[in-house]
Amino acid sequence: MYIVLEGIDGAGKSTQTQLLEQYLTKKGYNTKKIVEPTTSSIGKLIRQQLTNPESTNDINQQILTLLFAADRLTLKKEINEAKNTKEKIIISDRSFYSSICYQNNPTITPEWVRLVNQHAPRPDLTILLDLTEKEAIKRCDKEEVFENTDFLEKTRKNYLNLLKTEEHIEVIDATQTLQEIQEKIIKTINEKLGL
Ligand code: TYD
Repeated sequence: MYIVLEGIDGAGKSTQTQLLEQYLTKKGYNTKKIVEPTTSSIGKLIRQQLTNPESTNDINQQILTLLFAADRLTLKKEINEAKNTKEKIIISDRSFYSSICYQNNPTITPEWVRLVNQHAPRPDLTILLDLTEKEAIKRCDKEEVFENTDFLEKTRKNYLNLLKTEEHIEVIDATQTLQEIQEKIIKTINEKLGL
C-alpha cells in the first residue's frame, strides 16, 4: 500500500505520518515512512533552493518542477514494490499531488506538471489535511519560499479542487487536536483499506 498525507505547509503532515507509522508498526505491519523532497542529491538541491533561492539563482520554477518530478522517481521502485500489496505499507509525507498544487503558476500549465509526473507512483489512498492558510502560517517555523499566506491560500484551493477530479482522496479537518486527527486518519485507513 502507498498511503500519502498531503496538505499545505503547517497542516501537520510530518507529525501525523510519524504517528501513523508508529501505529501501523505496532499493529504488526511492515511499514516505511518516506518524505518528499527526499534525501537524494536532487532532494538536497531542492531544499537548498527552497531555503536560499539566491544561492542557486539559475533554477527557475520550471526547473524546480522538473527537480521535484525527478526526485520522486528515486522512490518509484520501492513504492511500486509495496503498491497493491497489504504486506508492506509506505506512508509518505507528500506525493506528485504536491507538485500539482504547488507548481501551479503562470509560467507552468497544470497539464505540463501532470505530463512530467506521468511516471510518478499514484497513491492508493491520500489523506488531505485541510486548514485555512491563516491557521497554517501560524504553525510554519522556517523561512521557505512557499511559506506565505497568499501562496498558501492559492495552494489550498488547488488541493480542494483536486477532490473534483481525483479518486481516493479523503479530507480531514487539520484544526482538530493531534489525537482527534490521528483517530480520523486511522478510521479512514481502516474503512478504505480494510486493514
Ligand atoms: P515540506 O513538506 O514543507 O518540508 P519541510 O517540512 O522540511 O519544510 O516541503 C518543502 C516545500 O516543498 C513545501 O513548501 C512544499 C514544497 N513542495 C513543492 O512545491 N512541490 C512538491 O512537489 C513537493 C514534494 C514539495
